[in-house]
Amino acid sequence: MKKLQLAQLPTRIDRIKTPPTEAALWIKRDDQTGLELSGNKVRKLEYALQEALEQKADTVITCGGIQSNHARATAAACARLGLRCILLLQDDGQRKPSGNYFLDTLLGAETVFLSESQYQNELDEILQNIADVQNAQGHTAYTLPIGASNGIGTFGYYAAFAEILAQEKEAGVVFDTIVCAVGSGGTYAGLLFGAISAGSNKKIVGIPIAKDAAYFTDRVLCLSHDFSAYLPQKLTCPPEQIRLIDGWTGPGYAKNTEEDFAFIRTFARNEGIVLDPVYTGKAMRGLYESLQQGHPHVAGAKNILFIHTGGAFGLFGKEERFLCNGKKPTANKRQKSGCQ
Ligand SMILES: Cc1ncc(COP(=O)(O)O)c(C=O)c1O
Repeated sequence: MKKLQLAQLPTRIDRIKTPPTEAALWIKRDDQTGLELSGNKVRKLEYALQEALEQKADTVITCGGIQSNHARATAAACARLGLRCILLLQDDGQRKPSGNYFLDTLLGAETVFLSESQYQNELDEILQNIADVQNAQGHTAYTLPIGASNGIGTFGYYAAFAEILAQEKEAGVVFDTIVCAVGSGGTYAGLLFGAISAGSNKKIVGIPIAKDAAYFTDRVLCLSHDFSAYLPQKLTCPPEQIRLIDGWTGPGYAKNTEEDFAFIRTFARNEGIVLDPVYTGKAMRGLYESLQQGHPHVAGAKNILFIHTGGAFGLFGKEERFLCNGKKPTANKRQKSGCQ
């Protein structure tokens, strides 16, 4: 499949010094696929934006939460490729110009805010309406779903699986288990389809941080159809190979507990690696505790590879929660700044 070259690949693989059990734990630094263009989304955008250019699009329209890493990476890629970028963002009621949202505007993307109910119930319709308006104005619009998790975007991690196989040979390690956060499903699906196509017996384990395992099992099966549309032969995805560990969404998407903040802080100090609060912090914590509890998807694993999918800009805006050990900072401006 043809693709653009936007990411710095291959990304390095490092060993974690303080794993929770005797299993060796490794981390693939996909947070270092670039800076503005960083994280897992870049791998997907390499394929999706190639398709956009082939379709002669001049305007890319996509969506996400206000701190969406995908939205920011798309804004950066569009700026680099000379494409217009329109982002439909879910309004958080504050629109604080920090982190990814700040970068979206710095990179020149046009932002359209949707209420929570519009975002949850009418997103596809609104996305299509905006594309229709752009087309009627003489532009050629290319729309991308949330997280670029569609048939074409799935090629990003399908190819990443092959990259991992090549790196294993070089490093002389065989990873029996590969683990990633699951937000919209495309990263997980790509890795799993890569393993299925290669006839590999590696376990591909996902940790959902937005919805539950049942929802993402359906998503992965749907993606296997959309992905197959680009292949000469249909890819069959046996449902029993979809291994997802529930229980790590916490209070909800992009919401954290004190334990999440504490885990990210301890991990940063032990490893010199910064996880993000929305995806990788929750997923790595989920992996640590699943290993300690002997969860069947990871029990018996000897060499585990965790994919660090990026998201560091999402830390900004949550600084006080880290400084306050996860508690909310005091709201009263007349009080000296502190924690509740
Ligand atoms: C940093 C980060 N990690 C993981 C994910 C999850 O990837 P996917 O949407 O492909 O499931 C996302 C996006 O949703 C992300 O931005």
